[in-house]
Amino acid sequence: MKTIYFEEISSTNDYLKNLDSEEDVLAIAKRQTGGRGTKGRSFISAEGGVYLSLLRLNPCKAEDCFSIMMNSAVAVVKTLHAFDIKAKIKWPNDILVDGKKICGILIENVFSGEMVARSIVGIGLNVNNDLAKEIEDIATSTKIILNKELSPPTVTATLCYNLYQDYGFEDYSRHLLFVGEEVTIITQKSAYKAFIDQILPNGNLKTKDGKVFSAGEISIR
Ligand code: BTN
Repeated sequence: MKTIYFEEISSTNDYLKNLDSEEDVLAIAKRQTGGRGTKGRSFISAEGGVYLSLLRLNPCKAEDCFSIMMNSAVAVVKTLHAFDIKAKIKWPNDILVDGKKICGILIENVFSGEMVARSIVGIGLNVNNDLAKEIEDIATSTKIILNKELSPPTVTATLCYNLYQDYGFEDYSRHLLFVGEEVTIITQKSAYKAFIDQILPNGNLKTKDGKVFSAGEISIR
């Protein structure tokens, strides 16, 4: 695996998208000027946070692609546990501490036949960075929780170690929030309340009223 460091870049995910490589590549940036989140949102990436993307070649079969999401979410949770922070997963892969988001994960896969040919796992973790006013109420950072700064390279090294572990469905399920609880299911057209019955091994969410949703279809609140 090759590692590339940037003082500043638009987006580590975009960098890897355009890269032709025959080996896995880890791109790490101190700050991003065009950080991207899920659902076309932007991701504020001020200095002090950990922003990285990992390009993996042929990581798994297309039908198993939720394993990439599970592994990366658990990797972040385990990393935060290593610094005594009790993090949990909000389906499918937001990482929360005390109900506030500390980390976002953006996974971009390229499929070829039955395989995931390329997978880019982009992770933005709030460490020492100050949070923008508009997200202060819904976001947190390791600095806020621990009341001290952590070394971003140490956090990055722990995260990279964890990304290469093979965390699976049991690990993922153990750290999931809201199973058995009532949440608001937000579709493109509406929002309604339902109890989560379970998250299935393929990543779909099943409600107690028997509906099954994929992560692309809905979000929960
Ligand atoms: C989200 O919460 O919506 C996902 C945020 C993902 C942000 C990371 S930061 C590193 C990588 N580069 C990007 O442009 N996005 C991801």
